[in-house]
Amino acid sequence: MKYLCKLSDLENNQSKGFELDDDTSVFLVKKSDHVYGYKNYCPHLGVNLEWQPDQFLDSTDTLIQCAMHGALFSIESGLCISGPCNGQTLQRIAIHIEEDGIYLDEQ
Ligand code: FES
Repeated sequence: MKYLCKLSDLENNQSKGFELDDDTSVFLVKKSDHVYGYKNYCPHLGVNLEWQPDQFLDSTDTLIQCAMHGALFSIESGLCISGPCNGQTLQRIAIHIEEDGIYLDEQ
């Protein structure tokens, strides 16, 4: 497992990206005190999603948005609800929370 960040580093309705040793990228989103994790990989063209570092959410902070063509994804399920990959899903990553922070489980 790999340490990602402190729980307090992530506020509700905020997202944060991480580069892993194997050159893949993942991100976390916190909503209603629950943390969700996904691979940073748009199912449309396989590009990274964020439009600025750590900015994975749309202007309302209620959906994940791909910066390339504006696809919108549910924070809770990763399902694309609008855009060119409508009906496809972001790849969930397994995480768990310990006293000192958020950990990525072995993938
Ligand atoms: S690459 Fe993400 S919506 Fe097209």
